Amino acid sequence: MRRPIIAGNWKMHKTARETAEFAEAFIPRIADVRDVEVVIAPPYTSIATLAEKARGTNLRVGAQNMHQEDQGAFTGEISAPMLKELGVEYVIIGHSERRAYYGETDEGVNLKVKKALASGLTPIMCVGETLEEREKDATADVVRLQVEEGLKGVVPGDGEKLVIAYEPVWAIGTGKTATPDQAQEVHSLIRKILGKLFGEETAKKVRILYGGSVKPENIASLMAQEDIDGALVGGASLKVDSFEKIVKYYEP
Ligand code: 13P
Repeated sequence: MRRPIIAGNWKMHKTARETAEFAEAFIPRIADVRDVEVVIAPPYTSIATLAEKARGTNLRVGAQNMHQEDQGAFTGEISAPMLKELGVEYVIIGHSERRAYYGETDEGVNLKVKKALASGLTPIMCVGETLEEREKDATADVVRLQVEEGLKGVVPGDGEKLVIAYEPVWAIGTGKTATPDQAQEVHSLIRKILGKLFGEETAKKVRILYGGSVKPENIASLMAQEDIDGALVGGASLKVDSFEKIVKYYEP
């Protein structure tokens, strides 16, 4: 009943020309995919190119970040209307790299999530603990705080439009994936928190993606978990073959 989402987060990879080459090879390969939402979030400089190639296909376009104001004196920033005009439908918010390297806080994440929802963009809000936090047994507390603070003031009607990505920081780009059981445990906790915030009915509708070293070899076992509704894929989304295999995780 929750439509799976497989989203590629390209981070700072691929020029516009490389994006066009990828799109030309990749889009025909997913033409017959019906029951999975396929998203790629390229760098800002590639969004227009990707959106152009994706028009009329089943590939959707995301952005990796966004400012919470529509416009203003914010050098280097990009707003929701700018993304919308290009055909962007999803925006990743609060990725752990933005939290770690650019000082993003739960408070800032909250402003951006609310802006995305108000603008008709689907926010993919990222949460997840560091290795140190996991080893201190603080995973549940860390994730609870990130979810509660990130979603402050979001009303239940908007809650169901949300997407959350659980990305344990220790699994990102390390080749170490959370086991399906470890991931499911946190996903089910996140759904419980959503139930408290928005009510059970809304919580059942929210897609919760897993991210962190997702590969063709581990996607099926992750997707088999009850509360895992898709994946946010870094490295393995940069190659046509591996991303196609992840998108078609349901094929034997
Ligand atoms: P990797 O798939 O490269 O571990 O990256 C995960 C990620 O951060 C996606 O947002």
